[in-house]
Amino acid sequence: MEKVRFTEEKATMLATLYGRALDARSDRPVLGDKAADEAVKQIDYDFGSLGVDGQLGLTVALRAKPMDDWAAEFLREHPDATVVQLGCGMDSRVYRLDPPSSVRWFDVDYPEVVDLRGRIYPARDGYRTIGTSVTDFGWIDEIPSDKPGLVIAEGLTMYLRPSEGEELLRRLIARFPQGGEMVFDTFSRLGIKLQKLNPVVRKANATLYWGIDEISELERLGLTLVSKLDSTDYATPEVKDRLSGSLRAQLWVAGLIPAFKKMGRILRFRF
Ligand SMILES: C[S@@+](CC[C@H](N)C(=O)[O-])C[C@H]1O[C@@H](n2cnc3c(N)ncnc32)[C@H](O)[C@@H]1O
Repeated sequence: MEKVRFTEEKATMLATLYGRALDARSDRPVLGDKAADEAVKQIDYDFGSLGVDGQLGLTVALRAKPMDDWAAEFLREHPDATVVQLGCGMDSRVYRLDPPSSVRWFDVDYPEVVDLRGRIYPARDGYRTIGTSVTDFGWIDEIPSDKPGLVIAEGLTMYLRPSEGEELLRRLIARFPQGGEMVFDTFSRLGIKLQKLNPVVRKANATLYWGIDEISELERLGLTLVSKLDSTDYATPEVKDRLSGSLRAQLWVAGLIPAFKKMGRILRFRF
């Protein structure tokens, strides 16, 4: 068992890991991420303290699923792409998608986090981690720039200061002269204001900074929108039936009020 002590934004990745593990243990998993379940069994941590239950696990899986699908689609079209996953935490997307070894995949997070990954997950061809803050931009020089790029960031943008986040995206776009895609989720400014209502953020004592209201705020950095899912669109109709009454009610209300609808989004861009 690997004992861990993470706080603030680093602790949130234990909540999302546990959410995916609970989804994997459920009767009808959305992601079926067995590696997440195995990882949880190897980590000595009081996962119960994170406030994550089966319902929250389902919502974590529902956020990850379209990102997996979009990434898989890009990698089918570009089997020699370079993938950079920012704020990877203990996410096992590389094992879920299992790309060919012609894909070079870099998972980036703070040194303590990638150190834990190294102790839990097996090595694989074409795969590497980089232990750094994503906003200490020197790491970008380590990324090969000779192929199309796929940048993935799940549950990260909101933790960055707006100016740092924008600079990060600009530098990554510049790193891939052959172009590519970016897949990431965002919170609106209202989502940032209401952050303490988010149980994962509250329990981890983390702080969110970057709220994005309009797609144009990202397009002016050099991105072109390909697809967009508002928080009310994450659940497919068959999965909606499995959400609790209170979650369904929240989604229904959010669907009526544009400011709530776009409080959380998953976005796919081309550059
Ligand atoms: C909510 S977790 C998401 C983890 C993972 N993407 C997932 O979906 O399970 C946020 C992650 O972002 C990482 N993070 C936040 N700010 C960061 C920064 N400046 N540099 C590197 N990683 C960062 C945290 O360490 C944590 O692993």
